[in-house]
Amino acid sequence: MTELFGRIRPQRELERAVLVHVEMQQAEDREELEEFRELVGSAGAEVCALITARRDRPDPKYFIGSGKAEEVRDAVAACEADVVIVNHALTPAQERNLEKLVQCRVLDRVGLILDIFAQRARSHEGKLQVELAQLKHMSTRLVRGWSHLERQKGGIGLRGPGETQLETDRRLLRERIRQLEKRIEKARKQRELGRRGRRKTDLPTVTIVGYTNAGKSTLFNRLTEAGVYAEDRLFATLDATLCRVHLPGAGPVIFADTVGFIRHIPHDLVAAFRSTLEETREADLLIHLVDAADPLREEKMADVQAVIAEVGADEVPQLLVMNKIDRLQPAVSPRIDWDESGRAQRVWISAKEGLGLDLLQRAVASHFKGRFHHLRVRLPVTAGKLRAQLYTLGEVLSEHFDEQGAPVLDIRLTDAQKRQLEQLEEVEIL
Ligand code: GTP
Repeated sequence: MTELFGRIRPQRELERAVLVHVEMQQAEDREELEEFRELVGSAGAEVCALITARRDRPDPKYFIGSGKAEEVRDAVAACEADVVIVNHALTPAQERNLEKLVQCRVLDRVGLILDIFAQRARSHEGKLQVELAQLKHMSTRLVRGWSHLERQKGGIGLRGPGETQLETDRRLLRERIRQLEKRIEKARKQRELGRRGRRKTDLPTVTIVGYTNAGKSTLFNRLTEAGVYAEDRLFATLDATLCRVHLPGAGPVIFADTVGFIRHIPHDLVAAFRSTLEETREADLLIHLVDAADPLREEKMADVQAVIAEVGADEVPQLLVMNKIDRLQPAVSPRIDWDESGRAQRVWISAKEGLGLDLLQRAVASHFKGRFHHLRVRLPVTAGKLRAQLYTLGEVLSEHFDEQGAPVLDIRLTDAQKRQLEQLEEVEIL
């Protein structure tokens, strides 16, 4: 079945793409068509044709059958496409064979995801990691891609420069990969130091995880008003973004936003996004954010859980947050589902509409119960600066002045904050 959306545009800012989607027999090999379209949109391509097929198993030559491959070729010609994007991982040979036939660039699912990550990487380390993953993906293609020529080594016309060029390309790639690995290691060490610094303050960390497009950045913005970049594109966030938030009922906590999870994430990328995933492992609480209005929410939740387990973060307590309740039919009001021990288990909210955010904060606070000390302290009358310091250190629950006019504060602190406070000489603990 071929669906044509051919539209001649006066100016072509976007690449025109022919999409190929195969409905596989085996459930675990199956990819989602809607998600594929969203990914392509995220990569910044315009869909000009969609070709779908059904197969029991991939064809070794083109992945799709040769009749379908010809259909792709015709669609490329008809809409003057720049790229063919296949919603599956192709072998280097399949990619090359298809490229030869359709006469334009062919990108598989791994290449597509890498491309999106490359556009979105924000931190220095994130960028290096994406480049490394891209080079690794490329190097398997380069090496295997050229091997058919190697086997004919010595044949007329195949000696000399071609072979040398291949060797040079491989050496350059290897060198670049090694150099990148070294730089990433250095960046990682620097990050380790930063993290240890943060650990010293011992602020509880709440990490928001979830499938891509669940609304993590929107929620993060709402909670922190930090203005983290959110838009209707997948993977709007690539690196863990941290922010200190004063949560009513829980005191100051660090919130971390993370990159969205996705099914069948290429293995190299799991490694590439370790910086985000490592943060996940060290969190005190994971907020697992779910797009409640997504018909595939159960599958996506299971995928997220699988990745969480894969990076060793399955021991971290979780709070399930069902987002986008504004889109649910029949309507659902914001609410908390509690478990028997009085801990919040699930919260229903709309990050975009700002519904249930107070409940979410209460639910997060319920997870940190018992981790805090309540202290009453008296400060010298003239300790304006110190008083400001206390306000940033912990959560000030109330304040009044005694008969001498000295401020008396009720304050909620973590262990580490309490130790810090005890070192402040002018503070009198009551
Ligand atoms: P990645 O960075 O790709 O992982 O996405 P994300 O999970 O950070 O999602 P983001 O916050 O960028 O939101 C994705 C889309 O969902 C945006 O268009 C948001 O406006 C929309 N969105 C987020 N929360 C809600 C909500 O409560 N209701 C509705 N209707 N839309 C929402």
